[in-house]
Amino acid sequence: KKPLNVVKISKMKQQQDRLTMITAYDYPSAKLAEEAGVDLILVGDSLGNVVLGYDSTIPVTLDDMVYHSRATARGAQNTFIVADMPFMTYHGSIDETLKGVRRLMQEGHAHAVKMEGGLEIVPAVKAIVQSGVPVLGHIGLTPQSVNTIGGYRVQGKDAEDAKRLMNEAKALEQAGAFAVVLELVAEETAAAITRELSIPTIGIGAGRQCDGQVLVFHDVVKYASPYMEKRFVKTFADVGSQIREGIEAYVNEVKNGAFPAENHVFKADEGVSESLDSL
Ligand code: KIV
Ligand code: NA
Repeated sequence: KKPLNVVKISKMKQQQDRLTMITAYDYPSAKLAEEAGVDLILVGDSLGNVVLGYDSTIPVTLDDMVYHSRATARGAQNTFIVADMPFMTYHGSIDETLKGVRRLMQEGHAHAVKMEGGLEIVPAVKAIVQSGVPVLGHIGLTPQSVNTIGGYRVQGKDAEDAKRLMNEAKALEQAGAFAVVLELVAEETAAAITRELSIPTIGIGAGRQCDGQVLVFHDVVKYASPYMEKRFVKTFADVGSQIREGIEAYVNEVKNGAFPAENHVFKADEGVSESLDSL
């Protein structure tokens, strides 16, 4: 299987083939996501919350994103990978923005970048697309701006706000974005944007009419995420409990002497092991 590309992604909207996207942050999460057959992997700056333990995405650096993107790419060599541009790396000069993009692509091995914002990022989006890098937009609730938005609340509920989001979505499409993430947007507004745009919308907490859906890995499988109880999230597995129970069993067996057992140990009179595989 080959990774998707932006041409195929665009065709999927026309064919009403829903896009599936999940975040991944390292080799094992990427490997499992690819094996499960997701269309796109997002190395989200949500890694700040679910992997690094910060209470927002603001502390996440370009170095963090490159490091995690690189590990993710090693785990999912046949999946289209989008990496988030982190906080304040695309609001200065175009030159500085492009340097960050270069690192995510060349060092992080991403296929595309994602950026939060509307009209104010249009020049940056244009410059990145012109340099040959696909851009995924991200509007609605934009966590990097939590301090100006004043909290995590649903966007596009009244006509004025719906219009603002529609204008942002259209501007991003015109700037050359290949798709746009709608985060925490009222279903009617997300549906209207999805109808209006020719590029796909990928929703998270944005209702049923988007062209695709994205969720955070740790939320989907209930892996010690601080956010999985939110209404827009559905957990499809509970690996957190399994991991905890597994570790508890290990601890118990070491304490009571059940592990290691006879079959786990080496005796002096055994042959020499030649390689890791023979252990
Ligand atoms: O960082 C992230 O996981 C995201 C998704 C929620 C869209 O931006
Ligand atoms: Na993000």
